[in-house]
Amino acid sequence: MKKWKITPGGEPVLILAHNYVRPEVQKEADHVGDSLELAKIAREIRNGTIILAGVGFMAEMAAILSPTSRVIHPEPFSQCAMATRLNPDILEKAREAHQGVPVVTYVNSSAQIKACSDICCTSANAVRVVESLGVPRVLFTPDRNLAGYVARKTGITVIPVPEFGCCPVHHTIMGPEILDRKKRYPDAVVLAHPETTEDVQDLADFVGSTSGMVRFVAGKNFRTVIVGTEPGIIPRMRQVSPKTRFIPASSFSTCPDMKMITLAKIKQAIMNEGPVVTIDPLVASGARRALERMMAVP
Ligand code: 13P
Ligand code: SF4
Repeated sequence: MKKWKITPGGEPVLILAHNYVRPEVQKEADHVGDSLELAKIAREIRNGTIILAGVGFMAEMAAILSPTSRVIHPEPFSQCAMATRLNPDILEKAREAHQGVPVVTYVNSSAQIKACSDICCTSANAVRVVESLGVPRVLFTPDRNLAGYVARKTGITVIPVPEFGCCPVHHTIMGPEILDRKKRYPDAVVLAHPETTEDVQDLADFVGSTSGMVRFVAGKNFRTVIVGTEPGIIPRMRQVSPKTRFIPASSFSTCPDMKMITLAKIKQAIMNEGPVVTIDPLVASGARRALERMMAVP
């Protein structure tokens, strides 16, 4: 742990930041990473105080996986727009319609949805998680684009629940816009997050999680890279490949909820020692089961 901060009460604080938050927040964080990396770090903390600089489901995950810790989410209004679109009734109806088919839930979801699921996954491990089940069909919630990516990679039938669940931010990234940029920079390498649509993924040289994309460009010295995800990742990419020109694939793909996490709010949260994330214990234990099952997948 690099640079613990001290609360007025004298307790150390660990700041975990997602790859999409503002650069000045990333700079102050002890760790910056994708959803899986942040969840794994939180899971190792006992009796700590964690500030989760990311959207709500990330703070919830940290609280679920580190039950002895106090997890502070500096801005409770910062919620993943995809996660808030799904409610447990829709999932229960799908379960009834497809009895015996396991439910795989992308972590971009509420604790309640996780608690109603068999196993969780992130964009970094979705293919391995689905393959680990050894079944011909799964229900996959709530992102139809990640579901499609997994289906194409595994050959397994992946049924999206809800049918049109998606990230509104990644849906602003369009194939024709990428082709336009490719005309200007014909040697450009294209990266895409699996939350983008299939036509965007088809144009990409690499599809992967946010940190997966950073690792892909590290040390390669590509001349130009078109970044098919939220542009908050670009400063991290510049750190690992300073000579590369990074171009956002869309001019509109900023996630407003990620940007709600500011340094001022983090400072305020440290002063106030809150707001602390609280989750109904029954919901938390159901969600923990699905998350721990994911963590056990090699
Ligand atoms: P990662 O798990 O790849 O960091 O993605 C999280 C996310 O919210 C993408 O929009
Ligand atoms: Fe959610 Fe999309 Fe923002 Fe990621 S980019 S947190 S999936 S709304």
